[in-house]
Amino acid sequence: MPNARAQELVEGLQKTIFEFMREHKVTHDEYRVATDLLAETIQAGEQSLLYDIFFEAEVTDIANTGRDGSPEAIEGPFYLPGAPELEAPFMLTQRADEKGDVLLFMGRVTDTAGRPLADAEIDLWHADADGRYSNIDPSVPAWNLRGRFRTDAEGRYKVRTIVPQSYEIPKCGPTGRVLDALGRHCFRPAHLHVKIRHPDVGEMTSQIYFKGGRYLESDSANAVRDGLIAELIRHERDEDLAAHNLDKPYFDVT
Ligand code: DHB
Ligand code: FE
Repeated sequence: MPNARAQELVEGLQKTIFEFMREHKVTHDEYRVATDLLAETIQAGEQSLLYDIFFEAEVTDIANTGRDGSPEAIEGPFYLPGAPELEAPFMLTQRADEKGDVLLFMGRVTDTAGRPLADAEIDLWHADADGRYSNIDPSVPAWNLRGRFRTDAEGRYKVRTIVPQSYEIPKCGPTGRVLDALGRHCFRPAHLHVKIRHPDVGEMTSQIYFKGGRYLESDSANAVRDGLIAELIRHERDEDLAAHNLDKPYFDVT
């Protein structure tokens, strides 16, 4: 069945690609390199990785244009639905000896008019202190550093996790090879991924990066935007630790 939007997009894309091919006098060999690369990403399980690295940030920039509220950010290839639902006090599923500084991620979810959203679902996932994602890297236990929890009556939330580190996408696969050919490295700056859902406002997907972090300026996915960078602040005063029932210094992010 013909679909008007599909016609607009696919035919428009084809026209743009034809113009590009003419402008650059793309040869048959180069055409084959490109189609082989796409086939290879599928064999390597990297189809989403390649596309998200090169194109997803543009989709979120388009979605953010003319929109109020916190900016959205790329989902990336490592989101998985069905993360564990946590019980209060919230702590992301983690190993008993999880490496990394304690991070208390806390804040408030509101609508664009500033009204608190009670009982919003927050779905948080991020890499560990070695830059590895659970359910992607087989050396990390299932669902590690992934979880869902809810805001309270005032829209507030607090969850304990660890400060993630920068993440290097696989360098040896097809995506890494393309980045290498472009003279680019494979790192993404350290980040938290978050999805927020509430019946009144729907779902939004974003990321939080840390001020001063490595690779903010040269993100392999080119997805860092000003409104997504927060400051990590270290707390070590006894009264602060006691207020959160902690026996070691922690960071929060504001
Ligand atoms: C990509 C995004 C991520 O958040 C990540 O951790 C790795 C890769 C990507 O855009 O492909
Ligand atoms: Fe990520």
